[in-house]
Amino acid sequence: MSAHQTQLLPATPEGTARAAALLRDGALVAFPTETVYGLGADAGNDTAVAQIYQAKGRPSFNPLIVHVADAAAAQALVHWSPEAEALAAAFWPGPLTLVLPLRPGARVSRLVTAGLDTLAVRVPAHPVARALLGAFGGPVAAPSANRSGQISPTAAAHVMAGLSGRIAAVLDGGACPVGLESTIVGLEGAPCLLRPGGVPAEEIDRVLGTSATRRAEGAAISAPGQLQSHYAPGAAVRLNAVNWRAGEARLGFGPVDCDLNLSPGGDLVEAAANLFAYLHRLDDAGATVIAVSPIPETGLGAAINDRLRRAAAPRP
Ligand code: TXA
Ligand code: MG
Repeated sequence: MSAHQTQLLPATPEGTARAAALLRDGALVAFPTETVYGLGADAGNDTAVAQIYQAKGRPSFNPLIVHVADAAAAQALVHWSPEAEALAAAFWPGPLTLVLPLRPGARVSRLVTAGLDTLAVRVPAHPVARALLGAFGGPVAAPSANRSGQISPTAAAHVMAGLSGRIAAVLDGGACPVGLESTIVGLEGAPCLLRPGGVPAEEIDRVLGTSATRRAEGAAISAPGQLQSHYAPGAAVRLNAVNWRAGEARLGFGPVDCDLNLSPGGDLVEAAANLFAYLHRLDDAGATVIAVSPIPETGLGAAINDRLRRAAAPRP
């Protein structure tokens, strides 16, 4: 990996133009989305996309999400369907990713799809992401901008801590408002929830008029990149802590006495926005065990618990 002096670019028109120029040159640029920071590369440039895997230390070629400016740009890359239309109309721009059949001849590197004949597409809502996509003028492949297996970044400082010296630049758009990755829905066949995320599964079901997207309890996760151990802080993680043990860092939810509280009022939207930042903070403070209050499994709670279970899973 060539050494870089990673530039921290302000989210001004000049900073955004510089970021777009770097993408055009085949360089890697981290940028804010409403979910988490993405590590962007020109989706049509094989070398640039290969560098994403190298910079993250991703062990294998897991497919990447392609970010586009609008649904029309997505339709140029994938075969559209009535379900895609309904979901895009309801949730784009926003924290929803659709997996659809790749159009033959779409200008997307084979490394983006890891050889699959489907493509994950998303139209982000964050104004800085939208400005960057507009200035770049093409699809941008972007996984979360963290080292493989580690906590996802919801601030430019998190990206810098993990990837400084490995990427060209970080476009600094402040804290990510949603704080959890996008919901991924597979639409190659019957609609299927591949990853819980920023749009609650209940809302997807409401739009599709089905409960097809509700993953059966304990069923295997089919997004290929959904590793058991992921989002892992340096500390061990203990889930569903109803009382605290000596020496633990206490990550609370609701009206409990603790070190950091995801949401004292029990608001799942607030808890999602705080989750990764608080894990980063307790980790940086040198915690050896992070104990977490129980989180309800409804709404965004399903995605929060998904991330926490992975953070707590045995590490490879
Ligand atoms: O919110 C997000 O989705 C963020 C921001 C940056 O947009 N991105 C993100 O990317 O979370 P990443 O690479 O960390 O997670 C992408 C997930 C992986 O689990 C991958 O396996 C799955 O999407 N995925 C990508 N393409 C797929 C495909 N064709 N079929 C099934 N799963 C796919
Ligand atoms: Mg990720």
